[in-house]
Amino acid sequence: MSEHELRVSKIRNGTVIDHIRAGQALNVLAILGIDGSEGEAISVGMNVPSDRMGRKDIVKVEGRELSQNEVDVLSLIAPDATINIIREYEVAEKHRLERPERVVGVLSCPNSNCITTGSEPVESKFEVLADGVRCEYCETIVRDDLAAHISVK
Ligand code: CTP
Ligand code: ZN
Repeated sequence: MSEHELRVSKIRNGTVIDHIRAGQALNVLAILGIDGSEGEAISVGMNVPSDRMGRKDIVKVEGRELSQNEVDVLSLIAPDATINIIREYEVAEKHRLERPERVVGVLSCPNSNCITTGSEPVESKFEVLADGVRCEYCETIVRDDLAAHISVK
């Protein structure tokens, strides 16, 4: 790396979400419910050069490891991403995301008549399609802006 290149610092403990499809970093932050208000250190790289992807986004979150729910939803919008868990500056775990077959209790159905959006607590279940997700109760399909339909953190 030459002195002309800018590199975001390494983190000590936390999560690096790497190889995010270019342009998706802000959606990743939305999914993780991160807006900087907790005081944690966040670094975001957008459209940075990548050997594998041409351009990619990268998100580094200090002091936070991801839940399985968060990983499931991330895999819908960033299917090529790598999750690196960092402990004491070392990459302790590296997970390549895979698209789940279904996501349970994570997304909320946009159909206000759906049994999952009523007052009785019925956990949402969505089947993952090639280009979106389908509610298993009312069959409503959501293709765009999945991040806006996330119901849990
Ligand atoms: N990283 C970090 N802080 C650390 C260790 C690693 O921010 N203390 C970042 C690196 O900058 C990189 C990612 O975590 O973006 C993964 O690190 P590493 O596995 O060392 O890099 P690569 O081998 O390039 O990863 P891959 O093979 O997944 O591309
Ligand atoms: Zn529904």
